[in-house]
Amino acid sequence: MSGSGVRGPGSGVPVGIVGDGVEDRGEVGDLQPHQTPDPGPRTSDGGRPGRCLILGCGVVGALVGNRLVDRGWTVVGSRRRPWARESGDPCPAFPVLAGSVLPVGPADAILVAANPGIRRGRDNGVAALVTAARHRWPTTRLVLVSTTSLYGDAEGGGVAEDGPLGQDPESLALRAIERAVEGHVDALVLRATALVGPTRTFARTRARAARLAGTPLTIKGDPDRPFSYLHDDDLADLAADALGGDLGTGILNAACPHRLTVRAYYQQAAEGPLEVLGDGSNQPRRWIDAGRLWAQRPAYSWRVLDGPTREG
Ligand SMILES: NC(=O)c1ccc[n+]([C@@H]2O[C@H](COP(=O)([O-])OP(=O)(O)OC[C@H]3O[C@@H](n4cnc5c(N)ncnc54)[C@H](OP(=O)(O)O)[C@@H]3O)[C@@H](O)[C@H]2O)c1
Repeated sequence: MSGSGVRGPGSGVPVGIVGDGVEDRGEVGDLQPHQTPDPGPRTSDGGRPGRCLILGCGVVGALVGNRLVDRGWTVVGSRRRPWARESGDPCPAFPVLAGSVLPVGPADAILVAANPGIRRGRDNGVAALVTAARHRWPTTRLVLVSTTSLYGDAEGGGVAEDGPLGQDPESLALRAIERAVEGHVDALVLRATALVGPTRTFARTRARAARLAGTPLTIKGDPDRPFSYLHDDDLADLAADALGGDLGTGILNAACPHRLTVRAYYQQAAEGPLEVLGDGSNQPRRWIDAGRLWAQRPAYSWRVLDGPTREG
């Protein structure tokens, strides 16, 4: 991460938190090596605006689409229930169609940012959505937002793109979504780690409630295992650039260089003294090594949470 800029504490960056800070296991699978960026005509600042389709247009999709609109792109999104947008979620500055549908017409880039539902015991059909999009637009640039929750245990060490993946059914199903992309001529899978930002309130709500009640907060696994994260706006910057052709093809971890422990993550979310206990369950212990991404973004200013750094 040498040379990567960060936006430090007090920089006005929102510190909302998503999820419970626990990532689950992944599978062992064959990975596509990450390729060097396409030297073609697209540029990272969207210098060749086109038409982008965003499938599964929720929080991330809206943030990405709005960036593209600002860069002069024509954007059309789809999600199952556009009317279900939460009040604090970003408002898309482009049309969003209802349903698990593929918008008609040509496309210069496609973002799949649909939540798989797998970790919540559902299957939202994202693999089928990816497959349908590939068949409809077989040569169009395709970016899939995937998840680092595929990775298995690394005994507290870092996991790069070729790191060990878990083998539980959920991770296999998540990996199947990535496999649906493989073989596409121009595709990038962004494996995003835990997302933080103003709409991500689950852990913050839990942590504050425990602090106010004066009770310890019990979380899954070892509280002192590493916690990697990425701000929604950083993911949106990356995905927008990727849709413009930046960041190459294959699989790329997406995490900010700064990392905390899970304990520190909850404690900063509590915004005050909080005792954090582990429940003794076996959770993967690893941080997300996004060194390939950091090398491609040496001057990028990552949005970071407050807390002691655990880099290096
Ligand atoms: N949150 C995290 O910490 C985290 C971490 C790593 C990776 N990710 C990944 O980041 C991506 C985007 O996250 P997000 O926060 O933007 O999620 P989000 O706000 O829940 O948006 C996802 C959207 O996809 C829609 N969707 C799901 N299945 C669909 C389908 N088959 N057809 C059409 N739309 C479908 C959902 O439908 P509805 O309209 O019914 O809501 C929702 O609007 C997801 O792939 C997620 O797995 C998230």
